[in-house]
Amino acid sequence: MDLKLKGKTAVITGGTVGIGLAAAEGLAREGVHVVICARSRAEVHNQAKRISVAHDVKAIGVEADVSDPEAIARIAAAVKTEFGGLDILINNAGTGSNETIMDAPDAKWEYYWNLHVMAAVRLSRALVPLMEAHGGGVILNNASICATQPLGYEPIYNVTKAALVMLSKNMANEFIAKKIRVNTINPGLILTPDWRKTATQLTEGTDSTADQYLDQVVKDLAVPIGRFATPEELAHFIVFLCSPVASYSVGSSYYVDGGMLKTIA
Ligand SMILES: NC(=O)c1ccc[n+]([C@@H]2O[C@H](COP(=O)([O-])OP(=O)(O)OC[C@H]3O[C@@H](n4cnc5c(N)ncnc54)[C@H](OP(=O)(O)O)[C@@H]3O)[C@@H](O)[C@H]2O)c1
Repeated sequence: MDLKLKGKTAVITGGTVGIGLAAAEGLAREGVHVVICARSRAEVHNQAKRISVAHDVKAIGVEADVSDPEAIARIAAAVKTEFGGLDILINNAGTGSNETIMDAPDAKWEYYWNLHVMAAVRLSRALVPLMEAHGGGVILNNASICATQPLGYEPIYNVTKAALVMLSKNMANEFIAKKIRVNTINPGLILTPDWRKTATQLTEGTDSTADQYLDQVVKDLAVPIGRFATPEELAHFIVFLCSPVASYSVGSSYYVDGGMLKTIA
């Protein structure tokens, strides 16, 4: 299928590893020029260079903490200077939390609110005009299955991801008049290097292996498909949603979770 993506331009936050990197690679494979953002200067530049060579597209790395409004302005400036306009924004940067409601200080809530919610608001304000300059575009927000099926040990993550899903619906309603389609993906268990690192750390010096730990996570969460997804499996779906082929998809939340969601939401 021709996804009609060649020559378009995308910003992917958290594009240096895991789901964001797989999405950036997947888009670049279709001929999309990419701007990847993350906090690590070395990683954004290394991955951008590698993607550019591997897929023969223009790839730019912007060092940016997207919870910081000043960093958002830098991303917008880079897009404007390098491309003049934009077609696709993937709000992907995010991370888990592990404090309880009783333990977490306000500063922790504020950081996650800025990272998971305000980054999408601020990036919209900065980048929607650049999408309008291209006649429209696509925004995809990466929330989580935890937005509807919360995990007990990470309330701040659950709450801020739920807010992102509602934000996404409101963005969809507001931006469709500008020919910008907004959707959400809610991944289940995606086996990123970070999950593997956690598994290795938690099993060090025990009788279990990292693989056994990961299998147990799948069992504990009763994931019907019986395994994690690879980031690439999710990226195929992301690339499709970002393409003009998905033209009638607006304001939806898509679960990519191997059946993990226990309701019909
Ligand atoms: N993996 C899963 O099972 C899973 C499931 C559901 C939802 N998700 C969601 O999917 C998204 C990606 O997850 P992942 O597992 O691929 O994560 P990951 O492997 O930990 O990668 C996170 C990416 O985001 C960047 N990042 C983190 N904080 C940032 C900040 N403040 N500003 C800019 N960039 C930042 C990281 O780079 P730096 O550290 O250099 O900034 C990295 O590029 C997240 O929003 C996550 O909540 C993941």
